[in-house]
Amino acid sequence: MVDYKTLGLVNTREMFKRAINGGYAIPAFNFNNMEQLQAIIKASSDLKSPVILQVSKGARNYANATLLRYMAQGAVEYAKELGCKHPEIVLHLDHGDSFETCKSCIDYGFSSVMIDASHLPFEENIALTKKVVEYAHQFDVTVEAELGVLAGVEDEVSSAESHYTKPEEVIEFSQRSGCDSLAISIGTSHGAYKFTPEQCTRDPKTGKLVPPPLAFDVLDAVMEKLPGFPIVLHGSSSVPQEYVDEINSLGGKLPDAIGIPEEQLRKASKSAVCKINIDSDSRLAFTAAVRRVLHDKPGEFDPRKFCGPARDEMEKMYKHKIIDVLGSDNKLAQLD
Ligand code: G3H
Ligand code: 13P
Ligand code: ZN
Repeated sequence: MVDYKTLGLVNTREMFKRAINGGYAIPAFNFNNMEQLQAIIKASSDLKSPVILQVSKGARNYANATLLRYMAQGAVEYAKELGCKHPEIVLHLDHGDSFETCKSCIDYGFSSVMIDASHLPFEENIALTKKVVEYAHQFDVTVEAELGVLAGVEDEVSSAESHYTKPEEVIEFSQRSGCDSLAISIGTSHGAYKFTPEQCTRDPKTGKLVPPPLAFDVLDAVMEKLPGFPIVLHGSSSVPQEYVDEINSLGGKLPDAIGIPEEQLRKASKSAVCKINIDSDSRLAFTAAVRRVLHDKPGEFDPRKFCGPARDEMEKMYKHKIIDVLGSDNKLAQLD
């Protein structure tokens, strides 16, 4: 059993409270490899932002669970080395699919876990979430649950259609499960294709797709039922068109990829939404940069020559999200 506090990690409780009161959101960035982790820590440390490092089941399979945990431990030391004396870094399991996976992460030193039982019937979702909460809270590990199902298909996170969260269910769910935060469904979805062209309109001037707005009425109704309760948004990449265009112009094929407009996420950040999940934008930044180098320098075969620029591009993107979208810069409890 590894106590996350001995690794220098924190849980989400205090940072969520401050984020809700301060009208900003904490970035939750997924990582699978060293370059992503370096970019996340560089961006959050330079900007004195709290940050959530998310590890999915897929990431654990890809990179090895033990290695990822030590990388997160190293991340705390790296943040200090970058001049951030009091970093606030959460190591979070993203989309935990069973009690056993959550327990394994808690025992490995994670400071926060998500149990995603949103596909189960209401009572079963409560029962499984409660079981994870009872285990996690013994070690002061915070638990995110999900109510409502996101649209989109991505690896093990899949659902053919979106079922918005029912505001009339959130009080009973949060009270009976004991969860610390709640992911809700208001129209976001995973991946780089969040809406079909048929669901969008086209800007007559640019010809670009314009996605439908998020269901802020559902968010408002949830907040009315649970005043001050931490709300989480998954599937919140914006799918920057400059990356999509760059990838497509260099031999890629991402037709009509589309995400959530940043102004809608900015608006959500000012509410009780205190955690915003971003993964696909990092994948796009990485891919665009790698394609650029390999296109311009076909003789290049040193991975540092294309992973380095990819890391720089991700850092730039993370910084933009922190400053311009989530507003979490300079929000560490101790800034000195
Ligand atoms: O919500 C899903 C995240 O983007 C993680 O994706 O399961 O492919 O690692 P993954
Ligand atoms: P995106 O695919 O929009 O980046 O969502 C990531 C996510 O929700 C991770 O849990
Ligand atoms: Zn997610």
